[in-house]
Amino acid sequence: MEKLVITGGKRLNGDVFISGAKNAAVAIIPAAIMSGGVCIIENLPNIEDVASLRSTLNKMGAVCEYVDKHTLKIDSSGNINTSAVFEEVRKIRASYYLLGALLGKYKKAEVAMPGGCNFGTRPIDLHLKGFKLLGAKVNVSNGIVTLSAEHLKGAQIYMDQVSVGATINIMLAASMAEGTTIIENAAKEPHVVDTANFLNMMGANIKGAGTDIIRIRGVKELHGAEYTIIPDQIEAGTYMIAAAMAGGDVTVRNIIPKHMDSLTAKLAEMGVEIEKNDDSIRVISSGQLEGANIKTMSYPGFPTDLQPQMTALLSGCHGISVVTENVWDNRYQYVDELRQLGARITVESRVAMIQGVERLKGAKVSATDLRAGAAMVVAGLSAEGVTEIDNIKYIDRGYEDIEEKLSNIGADIKRVNED
Ligand code: EPZ
Repeated sequence: MEKLVITGGKRLNGDVFISGAKNAAVAIIPAAIMSGGVCIIENLPNIEDVASLRSTLNKMGAVCEYVDKHTLKIDSSGNINTSAVFEEVRKIRASYYLLGALLGKYKKAEVAMPGGCNFGTRPIDLHLKGFKLLGAKVNVSNGIVTLSAEHLKGAQIYMDQVSVGATINIMLAASMAEGTTIIENAAKEPHVVDTANFLNMMGANIKGAGTDIIRIRGVKELHGAEYTIIPDQIEAGTYMIAAAMAGGDVTVRNIIPKHMDSLTAKLAEMGVEIEKNDDSIRVISSGQLEGANIKTMSYPGFPTDLQPQMTALLSGCHGISVVTENVWDNRYQYVDELRQLGARITVESRVAMIQGVERLKGAKVSATDLRAGAAMVVAGLSAEGVTEIDNIKYIDRGYEDIEEKLSNIGADIKRVNED
Protein backbone atom coordinates (compact mmCIF):
# COMPACT_ATOMS: atom_id res chain seq x y z
CA MET A 1 0.00 0.00 0.00
CA GLU A 2 1.31 3.41 -0.94
CA LYS A 3 1.48 6.41 1.35
CA LEU A 4 2.71 9.99 1.13
CA VAL A 5 5.46 11.04 3.53
CA ILE A 6 5.90 14.78 4.02
CA THR A 7 8.54 16.57 6.05
CA GLY A 8 6.88 19.89 6.76
CA GLY A 9 8.21 23.37 7.19
CA LYS A 10 9.65 24.06 3.73
CA ARG A 11 8.61 27.30 2.10
CA LEU A 12 7.13 26.81 -1.36
CA ASN A 13 8.51 28.74 -4.34
CA GLY A 14 7.96 28.44 -8.08
CA ASP A 15 5.32 27.50 -10.65
CA VAL A 16 2.62 24.82 -10.56
CA PHE A 17 0.96 23.85 -13.85
CA ILE A 18 -2.68 22.97 -13.30
CA SER A 19 -4.25 19.97 -15.05
CA GLY A 20 -7.63 19.76 -16.76
CA ALA A 21 -10.72 19.78 -14.54
CA LYS A 22 -11.65 16.38 -13.10
CA ASN A 23 -15.31 17.26 -12.69
CA ALA A 24 -15.58 18.46 -16.28
CA ALA A 25 -13.68 15.42 -17.60
CA VAL A 26 -15.93 12.93 -15.83
CA ALA A 27 -19.01 14.48 -17.49
CA ILE A 28 -17.51 15.06 -20.92
CA ILE A 29 -16.15 11.51 -21.38
CA PRO A 30 -19.61 9.90 -20.96
CA ALA A 31 -21.13 12.69 -23.08
CA ALA A 32 -18.82 11.71 -25.96
CA ILE A 33 -20.71 8.45 -26.51
CA MET A 34 -23.72 10.52 -27.59
CA SER A 35 -21.87 11.54 -30.76
CA GLY A 36 -22.01 8.14 -32.45
CA GLY A 37 -18.72 9.25 -34.00
CA VAL A 38 -15.19 10.16 -33.00
CA CYS A 39 -14.40 12.69 -30.28
CA ILE A 40 -10.94 13.87 -29.30
CA ILE A 41 -10.79 15.20 -25.76
CA GLU A 42 -7.68 17.15 -24.81
CA ASN A 43 -6.27 18.43 -21.51
CA LEU A 44 -7.69 15.52 -19.53
CA PRO A 45 -6.17 15.10 -16.10
CA ASN A 46 -4.14 11.89 -15.82
CA ILE A 47 -6.03 10.56 -12.78
CA GLU A 48 -7.77 7.38 -11.63
CA ASP A 49 -11.32 8.62 -12.27
CA VAL A 50 -10.51 9.23 -15.94
CA ALA A 51 -8.85 5.81 -16.22
CA SER A 52 -11.95 4.14 -14.69
CA LEU A 53 -14.28 5.91 -17.13
CA ARG A 54 -12.08 4.98 -20.07
CA SER A 55 -12.21 1.35 -19.08
CA THR A 56 -16.00 1.59 -18.56
CA LEU A 57 -16.54 3.03 -22.04
CA ASN A 58 -14.35 0.33 -23.59
CA LYS A 59 -16.39 -2.36 -21.84
CA MET A 60 -19.55 -0.75 -23.22
CA GLY A 61 -18.24 -1.07 -26.78
CA ALA A 62 -16.82 2.39 -27.47
CA VAL A 63 -13.18 2.40 -28.56
CA CYS A 64 -11.49 4.70 -26.12
CA GLU A 65 -7.72 5.09 -26.52
CA TYR A 66 -5.05 7.45 -25.23
CA VAL A 67 -3.52 9.59 -28.00
CA ASP A 68 -1.12 10.92 -25.39
CA LYS A 69 -1.09 11.20 -21.59
CA HIS A 70 -3.77 13.92 -21.60
CA THR A 71 -5.78 13.17 -24.74
CA LEU A 72 -8.40 10.50 -25.36
CA LYS A 73 -9.88 9.47 -28.68
CA ILE A 74 -13.37 8.09 -28.12
CA ASP A 75 -14.99 6.31 -31.06
CA SER A 76 -18.62 5.45 -30.36
CA SER A 77 -19.60 4.61 -33.94
CA GLY A 78 -19.90 0.86 -33.19
CA ASN A 79 -22.52 -1.00 -31.16
CA ILE A 80 -22.82 0.49 -27.70
CA ASN A 81 -24.07 -1.66 -24.85
CA THR A 82 -26.54 0.46 -22.91
CA SER A 83 -26.11 -1.72 -19.84
CA ALA A 84 -23.24 -0.64 -17.59
CA VAL A 85 -23.51 -2.76 -14.49
CA PHE A 86 -19.92 -3.83 -13.91
CA GLU A 87 -17.57 -3.04 -11.04
CA GLU A 88 -15.75 0.07 -12.44
CA VAL A 89 -19.11 1.81 -12.72
CA ARG A 90 -19.69 1.59 -8.98
CA LYS A 91 -16.19 2.92 -8.27
CA ILE A 92 -16.89 6.48 -9.30
CA ARG A 93 -19.85 8.63 -8.57
CA ALA A 94 -19.72 10.40 -11.91
CA SER A 95 -20.75 7.22 -13.72
CA TYR A 96 -24.25 8.61 -13.14
CA TYR A 97 -23.58 10.70 -16.26
CA LEU A 98 -23.88 7.48 -18.28
CA LEU A 99 -27.59 7.62 -17.40
CA GLY A 100 -28.21 10.97 -19.08
CA ALA A 101 -25.93 10.21 -22.03
CA LEU A 102 -27.45 6.78 -22.80
CA LEU A 103 -31.02 7.91 -22.21
CA GLY A 104 -30.52 10.90 -24.54
CA LYS A 105 -28.94 8.93 -27.37
CA TYR A 106 -30.47 5.42 -27.04
CA LYS A 107 -33.60 6.17 -24.99
CA LYS A 108 -32.59 3.46 -22.55
CA ALA A 109 -29.96 2.88 -19.90
CA GLU A 110 -29.09 0.41 -17.19
CA VAL A 111 -26.39 1.68 -14.84
CA ALA A 112 -25.11 0.46 -11.47
CA MET A 113 -25.64 3.03 -8.71
CA PRO A 114 -22.64 5.28 -8.29
CA GLY A 115 -20.00 5.04 -5.57
CA GLY A 116 -17.27 7.65 -5.10
CA CYS A 117 -16.17 9.69 -2.11
CA ASN A 118 -17.90 8.82 1.09
CA PHE A 119 -19.30 11.79 2.96
CA GLY A 120 -22.82 10.90 3.91
CA THR A 121 -25.91 10.30 1.83
CA ARG A 122 -25.52 11.30 -1.77
CA PRO A 123 -28.93 10.91 -3.39
CA ILE A 124 -29.67 11.16 -7.13
CA ASP A 125 -33.41 11.80 -6.77
CA LEU A 126 -33.16 15.14 -8.63
CA HIS A 127 -31.52 13.42 -11.61
CA LEU A 128 -34.29 10.81 -11.71
CA LYS A 129 -37.02 13.42 -11.29
CA GLY A 130 -35.60 15.28 -14.31
CA PHE A 131 -35.52 12.12 -16.44
CA LYS A 132 -39.15 11.38 -15.51
CA LEU A 133 -40.21 14.88 -16.52
CA LEU A 134 -38.54 14.27 -19.90
CA GLY A 135 -40.79 11.20 -20.26
CA ALA A 136 -38.55 8.36 -19.08
CA LYS A 137 -39.69 5.39 -17.03
CA VAL A 138 -37.40 5.02 -14.05
CA ASN A 139 -36.78 1.90 -12.00
CA VAL A 140 -34.29 1.49 -9.19
CA SER A 141 -33.71 -1.98 -7.78
CA ASN A 142 -30.78 -3.98 -6.42
CA GLY A 143 -28.49 -0.99 -6.82
CA ILE A 144 -29.20 -0.63 -10.54
CA VAL A 145 -30.99 2.28 -12.21
CA THR A 146 -32.96 1.39 -15.33
CA LEU A 147 -34.35 4.07 -17.64
CA SER A 148 -36.42 3.71 -20.78
CA ALA A 149 -38.51 5.96 -23.01
CA GLU A 150 -40.34 5.71 -26.33
CA HIS A 151 -39.60 9.39 -26.91
CA LEU A 152 -38.08 12.06 -24.73
CA LYS A 153 -40.02 15.32 -24.71
CA GLY A 154 -38.65 18.69 -23.65
CA ALA A 155 -40.00 19.93 -20.30
CA GLN A 156 -39.77 22.74 -17.79
CA ILE A 157 -37.70 21.44 -14.88
CA TYR A 158 -37.32 23.36 -11.64
CA MET A 159 -34.50 22.08 -9.43
CA ASP A 160 -35.52 22.04 -5.73
CA GLN A 161 -31.86 22.27 -4.86
CA VAL A 162 -28.92 23.47 -6.91
CA SER A 163 -27.23 20.29 -8.12
CA VAL A 164 -24.24 20.08 -10.44
CA GLY A 165 -24.82 16.43 -11.30
CA ALA A 166 -28.57 16.75 -11.93
CA THR A 167 -28.10 19.88 -14.05
CA ILE A 168 -25.53 18.16 -16.27
CA ASN A 169 -27.43 14.88 -16.47
CA ILE A 170 -30.66 16.60 -17.53
CA MET A 171 -28.70 18.67 -20.06
CA LEU A 172 -27.29 15.46 -21.55
CA ALA A 173 -30.65 13.72 -21.93
CA ALA A 174 -32.50 16.87 -23.06
CA SER A 175 -29.94 17.56 -25.82
CA MET A 176 -31.54 14.77 -27.84
CA ALA A 177 -35.15 15.15 -26.66
CA GLU A 178 -37.96 16.47 -28.88
CA GLY A 179 -38.62 20.16 -28.25
CA THR A 180 -37.24 22.55 -25.68
CA THR A 181 -36.23 21.90 -22.08
CA ILE A 182 -35.81 24.68 -19.56
CA ILE A 183 -33.83 23.98 -16.40
CA GLU A 184 -34.54 26.51 -13.67
CA ASN A 185 -32.36 26.98 -10.60
CA ALA A 186 -29.56 25.27 -12.53
CA ALA A 187 -26.03 24.89 -11.16
CA LYS A 188 -23.57 27.49 -12.55
CA GLU A 189 -20.25 25.73 -11.90
CA PRO A 190 -17.51 26.07 -14.56
CA HIS A 191 -17.80 22.36 -15.36
CA VAL A 192 -21.51 22.76 -16.14
CA VAL A 193 -20.55 25.40 -18.69
CA ASP A 194 -17.70 23.26 -20.03
CA THR A 195 -20.01 20.28 -20.58
CA ALA A 196 -22.58 22.51 -22.32
CA ASN A 197 -19.84 23.90 -24.57
CA PHE A 198 -18.72 20.39 -25.46
CA LEU A 199 -22.30 19.30 -26.24
CA ASN A 200 -22.72 22.39 -28.43
CA MET A 201 -19.49 21.48 -30.26
CA MET A 202 -21.15 18.10 -30.99
CA GLY A 203 -24.15 19.91 -32.48
CA ALA A 204 -26.40 20.42 -29.44
CA ASN A 205 -28.34 23.64 -28.92
CA ILE A 206 -27.83 24.75 -25.31
CA LYS A 207 -28.07 28.34 -24.15
CA GLY A 208 -27.67 29.93 -20.75
CA ALA A 209 -25.18 27.53 -19.13
CA GLY A 210 -23.43 29.48 -16.39
CA THR A 211 -26.70 31.24 -15.44
CA ASP A 212 -29.49 29.71 -13.39
CA ILE A 213 -31.76 29.18 -16.41
CA ILE A 214 -30.55 26.81 -19.12
CA ARG A 215 -32.52 26.34 -22.36
CA ILE A 216 -31.92 23.21 -24.39
CA ARG A 217 -33.49 22.79 -27.80
CA GLY A 218 -33.28 19.08 -28.58
CA VAL A 219 -31.60 17.93 -31.80
CA LYS A 220 -31.99 14.61 -33.66
CA GLU A 221 -28.30 13.86 -33.95
CA LEU A 222 -24.96 14.82 -32.51
CA HIS A 223 -21.60 14.38 -34.21
CA GLY A 224 -17.94 13.93 -33.28
CA ALA A 225 -15.93 16.90 -32.01
CA GLU A 226 -12.56 17.97 -30.72
CA TYR A 227 -12.54 19.65 -27.35
CA THR A 228 -10.12 20.95 -24.72
CA ILE A 229 -11.17 20.63 -21.07
CA ILE A 230 -10.96 23.72 -18.81
CA PRO A 231 -8.34 23.90 -16.01
CA ASP A 232 -9.18 22.43 -12.63
CA GLN A 233 -10.45 25.14 -10.29
CA ILE A 234 -10.15 22.87 -7.23
CA GLU A 235 -6.65 21.61 -7.99
CA ALA A 236 -5.53 25.24 -8.47
CA GLY A 237 -7.20 26.24 -5.21
CA THR A 238 -5.52 23.40 -3.34
CA TYR A 239 -2.03 24.58 -4.39
CA MET A 240 -2.92 28.20 -3.59
CA ILE A 241 -4.02 27.19 -0.10
CA ALA A 242 -0.88 25.07 0.35
CA ALA A 243 1.30 28.06 -0.56
CA ALA A 244 -0.68 30.34 1.75
CA MET A 245 -0.19 27.94 4.66
CA ALA A 246 3.43 26.89 4.13
CA GLY A 247 4.48 30.41 3.16
CA GLY A 248 6.39 31.33 0.02
CA ASP A 249 5.84 32.63 -3.50
CA VAL A 250 3.94 30.31 -5.83
CA THR A 251 2.34 30.94 -9.21
CA VAL A 252 -0.44 28.58 -10.32
CA ARG A 253 -0.44 28.54 -14.11
CA ASN A 254 -2.79 27.47 -16.87
CA ILE A 255 -5.91 28.51 -14.94
CA ILE A 256 -8.94 30.75 -15.42
CA PRO A 257 -8.45 33.35 -12.63
CA LYS A 258 -12.16 34.31 -12.68
CA HIS A 259 -13.01 30.79 -11.42
CA MET A 260 -10.88 31.46 -8.35
CA ASP A 261 -12.58 34.70 -7.20
CA SER A 262 -14.18 33.35 -4.02
CA LEU A 263 -10.86 31.90 -2.88
CA THR A 264 -8.65 34.83 -3.83
CA ALA A 265 -10.97 37.24 -1.99
CA LYS A 266 -10.79 35.08 1.15
CA LEU A 267 -7.01 34.61 1.01
CA ALA A 268 -6.50 38.35 0.54
CA GLU A 269 -8.73 39.01 3.56
CA MET A 270 -6.47 36.68 5.59
CA GLY A 271 -3.29 38.55 4.64
CA VAL A 272 -2.08 36.71 1.52
CA GLU A 273 -0.76 38.83 -1.34
CA ILE A 274 -2.50 37.88 -4.58
CA GLU A 275 -1.43 38.90 -8.08
CA LYS A 276 -3.84 37.99 -10.90
CA ASN A 277 -2.66 37.65 -14.50
CA ASP A 278 -4.41 36.46 -17.68
CA ASP A 279 -4.01 32.76 -17.02
CA SER A 280 -2.17 32.57 -13.70
CA ILE A 281 -2.35 33.73 -10.10
CA ARG A 282 0.67 34.46 -7.92
CA VAL A 283 0.31 33.77 -4.20
CA ILE A 284 2.79 35.39 -1.82
CA SER A 285 2.43 34.47 1.83
CA SER A 286 4.40 34.91 5.04
CA GLY A 287 2.59 31.87 6.43
CA GLN A 288 1.40 34.07 9.34
CA LEU A 289 -2.25 34.67 8.52
CA GLU A 290 -5.43 35.87 10.21
CA GLY A 291 -8.36 33.50 10.64
CA ALA A 292 -11.54 34.00 8.63
CA ASN A 293 -15.12 32.75 8.32
CA ILE A 294 -16.17 30.63 5.35
CA LYS A 295 -19.57 29.48 4.12
CA THR A 296 -19.61 26.97 1.29
CA MET A 297 -22.11 27.57 -1.49
CA SER A 298 -22.69 26.60 -5.08
CA TYR A 299 -20.71 28.62 -7.67
CA PRO A 300 -19.81 31.49 -7.60
CA GLY A 301 -19.80 30.97 -3.81
CA PHE A 302 -16.94 29.35 -1.91
CA PRO A 303 -16.64 25.74 -3.20
CA THR A 304 -17.33 22.85 -0.83
CA ASP A 305 -14.50 20.98 -2.59
CA LEU A 306 -12.02 23.46 -1.04
CA GLN A 307 -13.60 23.37 2.42
CA PRO A 308 -11.34 20.68 3.94
CA GLN A 309 -8.15 22.29 2.58
CA MET A 310 -9.30 25.68 3.87
CA THR A 311 -10.08 24.24 7.32
CA ALA A 312 -6.54 22.84 7.38
CA LEU A 313 -5.19 26.32 6.58
CA LEU A 314 -7.37 28.00 9.22
CA SER A 315 -6.06 25.52 11.83
CA GLY A 316 -2.74 27.33 11.71
CA CYS A 317 -4.09 30.92 11.49
CA HIS A 318 -4.43 33.47 14.27
CA GLY A 319 -7.68 33.56 16.26
CA ILE A 320 -10.98 31.78 15.85
CA SER A 321 -12.43 30.87 12.46
CA VAL A 322 -15.87 29.51 11.66
CA VAL A 323 -16.55 27.27 8.67
CA THR A 324 -20.12 26.50 7.63
CA GLU A 325 -20.69 23.63 5.18
CA ASN A 326 -23.90 24.34 3.27
CA VAL A 327 -23.67 21.78 0.46
CA TRP A 328 -23.03 18.36 2.03
CA ASP A 329 -24.55 16.99 5.26
CA ASN A 330 -21.45 15.26 6.51
CA ARG A 331 -18.19 16.65 5.17
CA TYR A 332 -16.15 16.90 8.36
CA GLN A 333 -14.98 13.29 8.69
CA TYR A 334 -11.40 14.46 8.16
CA VAL A 335 -11.48 16.68 11.26
CA ASP A 336 -10.39 13.78 13.49
CA GLU A 337 -7.32 13.41 11.27
CA LEU A 338 -6.51 17.13 11.51
CA ARG A 339 -6.79 16.82 15.29
CA GLN A 340 -4.06 14.15 15.13
CA LEU A 341 -1.87 16.92 13.73
CA GLY A 342 -2.72 19.14 16.70
CA ALA A 343 -5.58 21.17 15.18
CA ARG A 344 -8.18 22.48 17.63
CA ILE A 345 -11.54 22.11 15.96
CA THR A 346 -15.04 21.46 17.28
CA VAL A 347 -17.84 20.48 14.94
CA GLU A 348 -21.52 20.86 15.54
CA SER A 349 -23.74 19.81 12.67
CA ARG A 350 -22.68 21.89 9.66
CA VAL A 351 -20.46 24.31 11.58
CA ALA A 352 -16.80 23.87 12.47
CA MET A 353 -15.19 26.20 14.99
CA ILE A 354 -11.43 26.42 14.65
CA GLN A 355 -9.09 27.82 17.26
CA GLY A 356 -5.85 28.49 15.42
CA VAL A 357 -2.67 26.95 16.87
CA GLU A 358 0.90 28.23 16.57
CA ARG A 359 1.99 25.26 14.50
CA LEU A 360 0.62 21.81 13.56
CA LYS A 361 2.78 18.79 14.36
CA GLY A 362 3.46 15.88 11.99
CA ALA A 363 1.62 12.60 12.64
CA LYS A 364 0.23 9.52 10.89
CA VAL A 365 -3.09 10.35 9.27
CA SER A 366 -5.44 8.93 6.69
CA ALA A 367 -7.10 10.35 3.57
CA THR A 368 -10.76 9.71 4.36
CA ASP A 369 -11.84 11.01 0.94
CA LEU A 370 -10.37 12.94 -1.99
CA ARG A 371 -10.45 16.51 -0.65
CA ALA A 372 -9.87 15.29 2.91
CA GLY A 373 -6.66 13.76 1.57
CA ALA A 374 -5.74 17.08 -0.04
CA ALA A 375 -6.32 18.77 3.33
CA MET A 376 -3.87 16.35 4.98
CA VAL A 377 -1.27 17.23 2.34
CA VAL A 378 -1.81 20.97 2.87
CA ALA A 379 -1.53 20.54 6.65
CA GLY A 380 1.51 18.24 6.43
CA LEU A 381 3.43 20.73 4.30
CA SER A 382 3.45 23.30 7.07
CA ALA A 383 3.47 20.97 10.11
CA GLU A 384 6.58 20.50 12.18
CA GLY A 385 8.22 17.13 11.52
CA VAL A 386 6.98 14.19 9.45
CA THR A 387 3.40 13.53 8.36
CA GLU A 388 2.49 10.17 6.85
CA ILE A 389 -0.75 9.94 4.88
CA ASP A 390 -2.22 6.56 4.02
CA ASN A 391 -5.26 5.59 1.96
CA ILE A 392 -3.92 7.83 -0.81
CA LYS A 393 -5.93 6.04 -3.49
CA TYR A 394 -8.48 8.77 -2.85
CA ILE A 395 -5.97 11.52 -3.60
CA ASP A 396 -4.96 9.75 -6.82
CA ARG A 397 -8.58 9.81 -7.95
CA GLY A 398 -8.39 13.56 -8.41
CA TYR A 399 -4.85 14.96 -8.30
CA GLU A 400 -2.36 14.32 -11.10
CA ASP A 401 1.29 13.89 -10.03
CA ILE A 402 0.69 15.61 -6.71
CA GLU A 403 4.06 14.77 -5.18
CA GLU A 404 5.92 15.79 -8.36
CA LYS A 405 4.11 19.13 -8.59
CA LEU A 406 4.81 19.88 -4.92
CA SER A 407 8.45 18.71 -5.06
CA ASN A 408 9.00 21.08 -7.98
CA ILE A 409 8.12 24.02 -5.72
CA GLY A 410 10.33 22.92 -2.87
CA ALA A 411 8.17 20.59 -0.76
CA ASP A 412 9.72 17.53 0.85
CA ILE A 413 7.16 14.90 -0.16
CA LYS A 414 7.66 11.29 -1.20
CA ARG A 415 5.45 8.43 -2.26
CA VAL A 416 6.47 5.34 -0.37
CA ASN A 417 5.34 1.78 -1.00
CA GLU A 418 4.78 0.14 2.39
CA ASP A 419 5.08 -3.34 0.86
C1 EPZ B 1 -20.43 17.51 -7.72
O1 EPZ B 1 -21.08 16.43 -7.07
C2 EPZ B 1 -18.95 17.24 -7.60
N1 EPZ B 1 -18.68 15.97 -8.25
C3 EPZ B 1 -18.53 17.22 -6.14
O2 EPZ B 1 -17.12 17.12 -6.11
C4 EPZ B 1 -18.95 18.53 -5.48
O3 EPZ B 1 -18.70 18.46 -4.10
C5 EPZ B 1 -20.44 18.82 -5.72
O4 EPZ B 1 -20.74 18.76 -7.14
C6 EPZ B 1 -20.86 20.19 -5.22
O5 EPZ B 1 -20.13 21.18 -5.88
C7 EPZ B 1 -18.61 15.89 -9.56
O6 EPZ B 1 -18.76 16.86 -10.29
C8 EPZ B 1 -18.31 14.56 -10.14
P1 EPZ B 1 -24.55 18.02 -6.26
P2 EPZ B 1 -22.63 16.22 -7.27
O7 EPZ B 1 -25.57 17.21 -7.00
O8 EPZ B 1 -23.02 16.67 -8.62
C9 EPZ B 1 -27.98 17.25 -2.94
C10 EPZ B 1 -15.03 16.32 -5.51
O9 EPZ B 1 -14.43 16.33 -4.42
N2 EPZ B 1 -28.62 16.42 -3.96
O10 EPZ B 1 -24.27 19.40 -6.72
O11 EPZ B 1 -22.93 14.82 -6.92
C11 EPZ B 1 -26.73 16.59 -2.41
O12 EPZ B 1 -27.00 15.67 -1.39
C12 EPZ B 1 -16.50 15.97 -5.59
O13 EPZ B 1 -14.49 16.57 -6.60
C13 EPZ B 1 -29.86 15.88 -3.72
O14 EPZ B 1 -30.45 16.08 -2.66
O15 EPZ B 1 -23.21 17.19 -6.18
C14 EPZ B 1 -25.93 17.79 -1.97
O16 EPZ B 1 -26.32 18.14 -0.68
C15 EPZ B 1 -17.03 15.49 -4.29
N3 EPZ B 1 -30.43 15.11 -4.68
C16 EPZ B 1 -26.32 18.90 -2.94
O17 EPZ B 1 -27.56 18.46 -3.53
C17 EPZ B 1 -29.81 14.87 -5.88
O18 EPZ B 1 -30.40 14.17 -6.72
C18 EPZ B 1 -25.35 19.22 -4.07
O19 EPZ B 1 -24.98 18.03 -4.74
C19 EPZ B 1 -28.55 15.44 -6.11
C20 EPZ B 1 -27.99 16.22 -5.13
